[in-house]
Amino acid sequence: MRIDHSSSLLPEVTRGKKIQIVVDGNSLDAYEGETVAAAMIAAGIWKFRLTRNHKHPRGVYCGMGICYECLVRVDGVDNVRACMTPVVDGMKVETCKEVEL
Ligand code: FES
Repeated sequence: MRIDHSSSLLPEVTRGKKIQIVVDGNSLDAYEGETVAAAMIAAGIWKFRLTRNHKHPRGVYCGMGICYECLVRVDGVDNVRACMTPVVDGMKVETCKEVEL
């Protein structure tokens, strides 16, 4: 869910151009300037990958590129940090690759 209005406590909300990304075969709205993680969370997707040994779900933890919990596959490239990767129109993202850190 995205904040879609301004209030006396928040500055005016402005976004980049609306684009589409594909996550696990489903098209999602995203906005230029957002990260893959932001677009996925806005769409209600919180599970980004599974740990290899125990299949525990992982998602955004630090949100700033440090923890590597948000790894996904982007356009065929494994182990991309969703929190550090800007969306691009038509980008294909796959979740739940089994990665043990
Ligand atoms: S959430 Fe920590 S690296 Fe992406």
